[in-house]
Amino acid sequence: MIEVSQLTRVFRTYKKRPGFWGGVRGLFKRDFEETAAAKDISFTIAEGEFVGFLGPNGAGKTTTLKMLAGLIYPTSGTARVAGYDPTKRENAYRRLFALVLGQKNQLWWDLPAIESFHLLRAIYSIPAAEFKATLDELVTLLDVEKKLNVMVRELSLGERMKMELIAALLHRPRVLFLDEPTIGLDVVSQKNVRQFLREYNRKHRVTILLTSHYMADIKELCERVIVIHKGSKIYDGALDRLEAGSGSRKKIITFLPGDGAFPETWRSHLGESKRDAETGKFIVRVPAENLIAVSQEILSTGPVADITIEDIPLEDVIAELFQSR
Ligand SMILES: Nc1ncnc2c1ncn2[C@@H]1O[C@H](COP(=O)(O)OP(=O)(O)OP(=O)(O)O)[C@@H](O)[C@H]1O
Ligand SMILES: [Mg+2]
Repeated sequence: MIEVSQLTRVFRTYKKRPGFWGGVRGLFKRDFEETAAAKDISFTIAEGEFVGFLGPNGAGKTTTLKMLAGLIYPTSGTARVAGYDPTKRENAYRRLFALVLGQKNQLWWDLPAIESFHLLRAIYSIPAAEFKATLDELVTLLDVEKKLNVMVRELSLGERMKMELIAALLHRPRVLFLDEPTIGLDVVSQKNVRQFLREYNRKHRVTILLTSHYMADIKELCERVIVIHKGSKIYDGALDRLEAGSGSRKKIITFLPGDGAFPETWRSHLGESKRDAETGKFIVRVPAENLIAVSQEILSTGPVADITIEDIPLEDVIAELFQSR
């Protein structure tokens, strides 16, 4: 459904020299700085797949999604979505996909959502019966019946995001590019949106590429993730496999009373351990098979006030992946 081959986008920004004379010089000789927001990115996504698109701030996720949506042109490389070349901006392609930008409002601010929906119906010339059926389904799934007539600017963030999703789905796109659709939402709203996306993906077999900084979104929705870092793809595969590397390790968190100095006797045994600057807790990462031995060691030799054992969270796994680059 989606085929991306060596997609690259370089942004050229004018770099102003400091001070007045710097500005004057800039009139004659411009200095440009080039940022490769996406570098040789290639992947393919099959119909109905729900893929997570991960990377730290500035990695190039939004840039890539915008290229897939035909909003910006690649510097080189190609993309094909359902056989269409997004750069051609054909009407048939516009009907096939939707892009939701969590950071940006796409609905008319001073209109109730329902009026925006009717405008979209006209823009996409959706037949009345089909429009009604789709709208009813989406409104019920997202539970926003009572908010349809409220001015968008008066909606809560979560309600507005639900309306944005409805607006994006009214024309029944086959491909969805979701850029942080849960950003800023409280945990309950995040959960609602996630649940909706999962059901919608299963029921209609739409292909979804999702970016989110909330690992709960990715864990619950995506079996496969593509990770990019500084514009380049650094991982593409099962989320399980990414976690597996760390899944065999556990994190032991100990809290020591008083000044909580790390007992010297521990140091030789515990190897990879560090004190969390914020909480003062000692965090020790151990292979799962050493868990019992190391915990016993800690409990029997140190003045431990509290101890917890956790799996290494996905956030840490991903952070380690970035650091290793
Ligand atoms: N229009 C633009 N002009 C110049 N540089 C840009 C432009 N858009 C993006 N960039 C740069 O390209 C890089 C990638 O940006 P992008 O928005 O794709 O990152 P992102 O992965 O979506 O990050 P975030 O998680 O913060 O949303 C950044 O260094 C950014 O500053
Ligand atoms: Mg972004």
